[in-house]
Amino acid sequence: MSNPSLLILAGDGIGPEVMTEVKKVIDWYGANRDMTFDVSEDLVGGAAYDVHGVPLTDKTMAKAQEVDAVLLGACGAPKYDDLDFSVKPERGLLRLRKEMDLFANLRPAQCFDALADFSSLKAEVVGGLDIMIVRELTSGVYFGEPRGIHEEGNERVGVNTQRYTESEIARVARSAFELARKRSNKVCSMEKANVMESGILWRDVVTEIHTAEYADVELSHMYADNGAMQLVRAPKQFDVIVTDNLFGDILSDCAAMLTGSLGMLPSASLGLPMANGRPKAMYEPVHGSAPDITGQGKANPIACILSFAMALRYSFDQGDEATRLEDAIEAVLADGLRTADLMGPEDGSPITTGEMGDAIVAKLTTTL
Ligand code: IPM
Ligand code: MG
Repeated sequence: MSNPSLLILAGDGIGPEVMTEVKKVIDWYGANRDMTFDVSEDLVGGAAYDVHGVPLTDKTMAKAQEVDAVLLGACGAPKYDDLDFSVKPERGLLRLRKEMDLFANLRPAQCFDALADFSSLKAEVVGGLDIMIVRELTSGVYFGEPRGIHEEGNERVGVNTQRYTESEIARVARSAFELARKRSNKVCSMEKANVMESGILWRDVVTEIHTAEYADVELSHMYADNGAMQLVRAPKQFDVIVTDNLFGDILSDCAAMLTGSLGMLPSASLGLPMANGRPKAMYEPVHGSAPDITGQGKANPIACILSFAMALRYSFDQGDEATRLEDAIEAVLADGLRTADLMGPEDGSPITTGEMGDAIVAKLTTTL
């Protein structure tokens, strides 16, 4: 059997820096666990624009469709701010999500004990937190038509459309219920059914799928604004949260900060099964390209490395190896090692991106 294949798209800003650390982890698995991946690399975002004039070439898109999993770093940098919308770095990322049909975006927010004091919330509110946000990723206002900026009378009007079909809602709802069954069996669905028709439909369809197929799972509904408030008030009330593309974008950033740093949150974007049974998949940290710290060795590679752990679990059915990696990261944090994002001004000196990667690999070796 051939090795599983990975396409690395490191992208912009701190993307390449954190991906360098992921490559150390991939190499470790090849050398120590008899898990060799065929790794190829390509350009996305501004990095692709600089070379090709587009944020993702057709050739790279085709490669992404063929591999077992894509690992993505980050897209975007201020120098591209004035580019035409159609070639902005983020369009590369959105094209991957859309054309690979990665409709279920899993964003776990877990608070490692060693970081509970570092959260902006009280340690007792976040200690032991383990929630999973399932964000719909291929529809909604991100992709709805009509969209654009046009003239009306003597002024410009900006238009975007929130649009969901029943089947789009149903499939992401099923992903959330399936996940909940493997966790604490609870789903909270978030929308704005009080003001949006798409929210009314969302609530209806989630309820129908629940009644017909997942009545064993506990289901609740919340307006997304209340959901945001509850996330910072008492986040441990949640197990799985399922929500649309835009609310999921916002709520997951909010959930990320509960864990201490945006530098800690991984994600998996999953689509339909391919011919080999593996889901179409892309794994990426939730943090962006962080232009303010690019190239300074300050970036935290943990979100990106945890994203690779999700690849082990969801693409390669290696849950035990994923847990090994997550435990190694937890142990490194328990040893007190911290990148700059995980420190206050008086907490001593941080380690670099590369030192964090090395520490995680060294810790992996102690598990053998
Ligand atoms: C995310 C990011 C992206 C999004 C941007 C970079 C387009 O914020 O993955 O959460 O809005 O989806
Ligand atoms: Mg976001």
